[in-house]
Amino acid sequence: MTVIDWPAGMLKLPDSFTFKGSEGGVIQNTTSEAILVTLIAARDKALTVVGAADVNKLAVYASDQTHSTFTKVCKIAGISSRNIRSIPTTLTGGFSLSPFELRKAVEADLAAGLVPVYLCLNLGTTSTTAVDPIEPLTRVAKEHGMCFLDCCCLWVQNPKARRCSEHQPGILEKQTERIRFRRRFQGLATRHRPAVQIFAVMAHFPILRRRQPPSSYPFRRTDGQDVRRVRKIRPEVRNSGAEAVRAGVFPDPDENYGSDYTEMLNRKLLDWINLTGRVYMSHTKIGGVYVLTFAVGATLTDERHVVAAWKLIKEGADALLRTT
Ligand SMILES: Cc1ncc(COP(=O)(O)O)c(C=O)c1O
Repeated sequence: MTVIDWPAGMLKLPDSFTFKGSEGGVIQNTTSEAILVTLIAARDKALTVVGAADVNKLAVYASDQTHSTFTKVCKIAGISSRNIRSIPTTLTGGFSLSPFELRKAVEADLAAGLVPVYLCLNLGTTSTTAVDPIEPLTRVAKEHGMCFLDCCCLWVQNPKARRCSEHQPGILEKQTERIRFRRRFQGLATRHRPAVQIFAVMAHFPILRRRQPPSSYPFRRTDGQDVRRVRKIRPEVRNSGAEAVRAGVFPDPDENYGSDYTEMLNRKLLDWINLTGRVYMSHTKIGGVYVLTFAVGATLTDERHVVAAWKLIKEGADALLRTT
């Protein structure tokens, strides 16, 4: 209870969201679980109005950058896959969900006789760290009585809504039972693990450091001068949030960023980097472009780690270009 009130204070949520003022929040085991709990609450609220027979009319919305868990959870909650809207985003829009596109999708569904129930928002998508503009999007959602969320720490304005969903028979009850069973037999340390984890992160990663403007992070800049001179190849580091860095070897701007050749170069670079055993990187595809990605938001990651990783990228790019 104490731990979940801390982030509520940092986010400046009204007291009504905390244990001080009301029934407080919940640290869910996973984001998927938080989405499931709230989606079922939204589904059941809508079904009391439209009737259970019309469950196939319920529609849900998220950007195409949203984690795949959203689609899975919708299926578990019985939302027809025909009514899961994955709204396209663009590079020029920073891959965030456009309120205009959301409204267009919602209005088309209403015209087709569907019932919008849920909007999944992101503050830092997994692949692109895109941030959805919460205020205008929630305005559209509220106009149509939708719920919205993507989180692990879950606060609800009306705790009764959450309680109602937890008491639904079926999948959720079975899931809750399984979690209770697991916790009973895994002991105290596990039972309190989510709170302990949040406590550890907060204790280790001073909130003041988190609040530094992103431009003060040294690894934000694009720093490809050395390698740019080598055979028209231009490596870039792009960082749209503080959590992850995207990097890659890209051909000159006049060439096609999404070409097979570019992808082949970056796949080779990724393999080379990971084989060194010094840094572990992964990849993502952003707007069809293959990009290397690595996390820098961990509590123990420091400037020197990011600088070393960047040196390694450049070393790999140089080696790659000498042999291609
Ligand atoms: C933005 C986002 N949403 C949802 C998830 C799924 O989280 P979980 O595995 O906790 O259910 C992730 C996991 O990386 C994520 O990054």
